[in-house]
Amino acid sequence: MILESEYLKRREQLGSKLEKNSIVVLFSAKQKVRSNDTEFPYRQNSNFYYLTGFKEDNAALVLLKEKKKLKVILFVQKKDKTMELWTGKRLGAKKAKEQFSVDDVLTIDKFETKIVEYLKSSKHLYYDFNMQDERIENLVKKSLGFNEHKNIAYLIGKQRLIKSDTEIELIKKALEITKEAHHKAMRESKNLDNEYELLADIEHTFKKNGAYSDAYTSIVACGDAANTLHYISNDKKLVDKELILIDAGCEYEYYASDITRTIPVNGHFTPAQKELYSMVLDVQIKIIKMIKSGVKRSDLHVESEMLLCQGMIRLGILKGKLKKLLKKQAHKKYYPHGIGHWMGIDVHDESPYKTPKGKEILLSAGMVLTIEPGIYCPKDDKGIPKKYRGIGIRIEDDILVTKEGCENLSSSIAKTIDEIEDKASL
Ligand code: GLY
Ligand code: MN
Ligand code: MN
Repeated sequence: MILESEYLKRREQLGSKLEKNSIVVLFSAKQKVRSNDTEFPYRQNSNFYYLTGFKEDNAALVLLKEKKKLKVILFVQKKDKTMELWTGKRLGAKKAKEQFSVDDVLTIDKFETKIVEYLKSSKHLYYDFNMQDERIENLVKKSLGFNEHKNIAYLIGKQRLIKSDTEIELIKKALEITKEAHHKAMRESKNLDNEYELLADIEHTFKKNGAYSDAYTSIVACGDAANTLHYISNDKKLVDKELILIDAGCEYEYYASDITRTIPVNGHFTPAQKELYSMVLDVQIKIIKMIKSGVKRSDLHVESEMLLCQGMIRLGILKGKLKKLLKKQAHKKYYPHGIGHWMGIDVHDESPYKTPKGKEILLSAGMVLTIEPGIYCPKDDKGIPKKYRGIGIRIEDDILVTKEGCENLSSSIAKTIDEIEDKASL
């Protein structure tokens, strides 16, 4: 659990990066309509959550920095018996003031008048440029003429890059649950008929362990379906002798996990599947070994392209000289995505990859990123050996950068051919 002292520290750290006479305004996420009058389950905006730990909607956070000291005001929904009967209890201003270490808690109906007052005494307005709705438009309108506008998303994103020990513990907890789900899938696939049955098992494991949501829509893709990168229909039959690519990770207390395993439906890899799988696994292991402070993430990607291209030549998927094929980007046909991404409160953590001047941000202790090489061989691709057609493989782990190197946070999830076949035989 993240303690109030950590949220306080986060706001102080952010405050130290602000100009004098600044105001920061952040809004909670809005409810999202699913259809007509039904809504998706509510999830707080990640930046708002990162700075407050407050999970209700209709809220705003204001940080005021005059010289050095930071004043923090949280705006929350009013208590309302009728509304609470329909949509659940609200904390209300009084209780929020007791629970949160902020200078003031006001009800959201006061926001419109208060903000005018705050803006008048500020020079720089920071808000989240990535959030676009009428609250932001109103704010910008009110501040025209006397404020300089800056993007707070960059500063928060930069701060979110380095995880605290508590954040890492939460990611590890999410991964424990995700591990149980993947191991169950390895054991059960031979007994099930459809992708959605496996998905149901995965979601059951998440929820029964207190992870109420997945961190992203799961992919359970059998055979050729794995060659559709964002395959989320998960509605086809599980076919004997084919592989299933499962990209599924739960979110636990607002922290993500993101794991892909590719497993045989019947518990045994065929010789051709073994050849492709071993090739991708070797690449993944080599790339993870490269990770340490000071390394460029883009170098990991370039190396993964080189290694996968080499593997494709060895297996007869690509024909020609390595250098020429890389120059032509021939490998992109079968490895079209990146090697990985930042992960944290969001599965694709909203943190920058470059400085505002365009310089790449180097890996540093405390960062968490995924490493997920893959190869995708479509069924109808006549240019590749027949035995590989219709196979898609990705192997994805979540890696913590440390001072000396890295720690694979998901290393206990079965990954080698032997480990996966052993799990299937249980
Ligand atoms: N599950 C999303 C991704 O691997 O990036
Ligand atoms: Mn990923
Ligand atoms: Mn993934």
